[in-house]
Amino acid sequence: MTEAPAITIVAALAKNRVIGINGALPWRIPEDLRHFKKTTMGGALVMGRRTFDSIGKPLPGRRTFVVTRRQKKIQGAETAASPQDAIEAARQTGMPVFIVGGEQIYRQTLPLATAMSLTELQITPQGDSFFPLFNPKEWQEETRTPMQETKGDFVHYLRR
Ligand SMILES: NC(=O)c1ccc[n+]([C@@H]2O[C@H](COP(=O)([O-])OP(=O)(O)OC[C@H]3O[C@@H](n4cnc5c(N)ncnc54)[C@H](OP(=O)(O)O)[C@@H]3O)[C@@H](O)[C@H]2O)c1
Repeated sequence: MTEAPAITIVAALAKNRVIGINGALPWRIPEDLRHFKKTTMGGALVMGRRTFDSIGKPLPGRRTFVVTRRQKKIQGAETAASPQDAIEAARQTGMPVFIVGGEQIYRQTLPLATAMSLTELQITPQGDSFFPLFNPKEWQEETRTPMQETKGDFVHYLRR
């Protein structure tokens, strides 16, 4: 039997776990945007409706699955009625699955994720959205790569 493909959470979080403010990112870090693009290219993205609205369009080179309780159509994306449905639909594509936020979606999908690609930023901005606390004993740090232009690391975790 082949191994089930990874379901990877991708997030950038500050020292105080902040990930967002007023429906947007609290920072503008091109190095992290490049990392996000490289990590997720060719994959199926699962995101909450608010995160989709903040990006404003489906991202090129990836399939987009938007979690929403409203039954509306989104051009260039597929909608799902729950995070679980979105992950299932994303898996059906056969592409690697990336869960890309925001807070509500990270909280609900953390138990389902098999990997995390976290940008751990050494800053403490104001924010109103946070990355959930996770039990470090459940996660094995595989790689930690210092960022070049910002104080922080790109860290890859696998579920133990
Ligand atoms: N730093 C990072 O890496 C990062 C990444 C992504 C996002 N962010 C930030 O995070 C913030 C947004 O996070 P958020 O928590 O406010 O919103 P979110 O998780 O992006 O989206 C929340 C929406 O998802 C839908 N939803 C949530 N749970 C659902 C369920 N069980 N069933 C059906 N639909 C469900 C609802 O959409 P409807 O209202 O349409 O029903 C809900 O309003 C923004 O500031 C954004 O910039 C940061």
